[in-house]
Amino acid sequence: MDHKKTFYVTTPIYYASGNIHIGHTYCNVCADTIARYKRMMGYDVRFMTGSDEHGEKIQKKALDAGLSPKEYVDRIAASFQEVWKAMNISYDYYVRTTDDSHVACVQKVFTELLKKGDIYLGKYEGWYCTPCESFFTDSQVGEEHLCPDCHRPVHWESEDSYFLNVKKFVPDLMEFYDKHPSFCRKDKLNEMINTFIKPGLDDLCITRTSFDWGVPIAENPKHIVYVWIDALLNYVSALGYETADESLMRKYWGEETEIVQLAGRDINRFHTIYWPILLMALGLRQPDRILVHGLLLTKSGVKLSKSLGNAPSPYPLIERYGVDSLRYYMVREMQFGEDGAFTPMQFVDRLNADLANNYGNLVNRTLSMVNRYFEGRIPSYRKDVSERTRVMMERAKELVDEYVSRMNEFDITGGTGSAMELLGLGSKYFDDMAPWNLSKEGKTELLEETLYSACELIRIGSILLSPVMPEKTKEALDQENVPEELRTFESIAETGRLAGISLRPLAPLFPRLKKEEEIQYLTKLIDGE
Ligand code: MSP
Repeated sequence: MDHKKTFYVTTPIYYASGNIHIGHTYCNVCADTIARYKRMMGYDVRFMTGSDEHGEKIQKKALDAGLSPKEYVDRIAASFQEVWKAMNISYDYYVRTTDDSHVACVQKVFTELLKKGDIYLGKYEGWYCTPCESFFTDSQVGEEHLCPDCHRPVHWESEDSYFLNVKKFVPDLMEFYDKHPSFCRKDKLNEMINTFIKPGLDDLCITRTSFDWGVPIAENPKHIVYVWIDALLNYVSALGYETADESLMRKYWGEETEIVQLAGRDINRFHTIYWPILLMALGLRQPDRILVHGLLLTKSGVKLSKSLGNAPSPYPLIERYGVDSLRYYMVREMQFGEDGAFTPMQFVDRLNADLANNYGNLVNRTLSMVNRYFEGRIPSYRKDVSERTRVMMERAKELVDEYVSRMNEFDITGGTGSAMELLGLGSKYFDDMAPWNLSKEGKTELLEETLYSACELIRIGSILLSPVMPEKTKEALDQENVPEELRTFESIAETGRLAGISLRPLAPLFPRLKKEEEIQYLTKLIDGE
């Protein structure tokens, strides 16, 4: 029997309306870091991402491209999967809202809620923003009639529609928030309460008749399900909810599972208001956490977005800097939960300081000296180490604990920072001990102790950084020739087992970037010149 704790993590499913840009990749990189961390900690993890393939915008794009909507989204979904592969996103399942099983799930949910009376037929009128697929009120669009989200013009629309009985659930929702303080960060939730709930939440219009690229409802097929309701249900349809085999649903949406869902702050409203309400209506449990993350902005504070033309594709960055450097930058430089600017200078500085000068340099210096002084074999280890080494290893242990407590709270920026600090500790120790002098002075025991301890720190730091940089940390561990059983998180405590290991050939892990040159390159890339 499987006694592992279970963990379910999801990203929003991405609109299949265009290409993925680096702003989009942020969420998947963070989710992947979390998924890999939980796997490392021994959880049975299910990590899900996918594509959101219905809606008017996509129908129009397909028409423009001379394709049927399905042909269009097939292409886009394939291109998304390629990006995720290039970014090393280790999802276990990729859901598409055009999947038959998803469509059937949405239809069944609709029927069930209609029967229960939580969905009813009415009339919808309001200001509609086609690109955002959202209705807005008079006050939201102002006198200029502009979408409050994307600032493009909205138009008046009126249609027969089905509504979700949102109002009925508001008291339960507020009680749920109160009882589950870790559901969502206080400030992010308060923003939702103050902006949407306190002014009075209306029942949500959840069908459309003005176009047909969506899930038709069985009861009245000229109506298709509003793309957001369709999309939110992916989180459970992908587990087989409302299908013949609900075993995954029982397992990963069961009470025992820790459920964590990521969403950018631009779609917070759907994840912290409508999604819990939908789950309440269906009598399903709530996720443990909605991790609302910030957005990648330009230097001048504008969201990186395709339509604004300021968001580069991740491919040139992966090619030039390597996927792990890009992943590291995103997780470490952006404080998880806050907005952050993607600026060429910070990018180059961060990569040089943390990866080339700290991590890469420690690996290279340490292993080169093992080659030089000990013919490529990691020297032996004694328990009665010098005071300096003992103090350093004590601090390293504290940093491992700090890493774990931060990562367990999904502070991936802080956790990654602790891991990097541990490597920085190694670099400083290395400088202080100056092994080249120890060799000159013939202090062999201290030289052995120093290089052994530095190898140990490289091993530990690489294990801790493996969720964010799976490839580079593997390269470091490979160069040090660390056996598989000493690459696990539990093995961190097993110090002393590296002695006698023969190193593999060395190669620099991260190049030192030429600042001016790279800033110029990146500036051009972002400005799209
Ligand atoms: N299809 C909806 C989600 C439905 S989930 C039930 C959607 N798709 S999206 O493609 O527009 O966005 C996907 C994710 O990318 C969102 O979490 C969004 O916040 C994120 N990002 C898009 N641009 C971004 C940045 N510039 N920076 C960080 N994340 C960004 O919304």
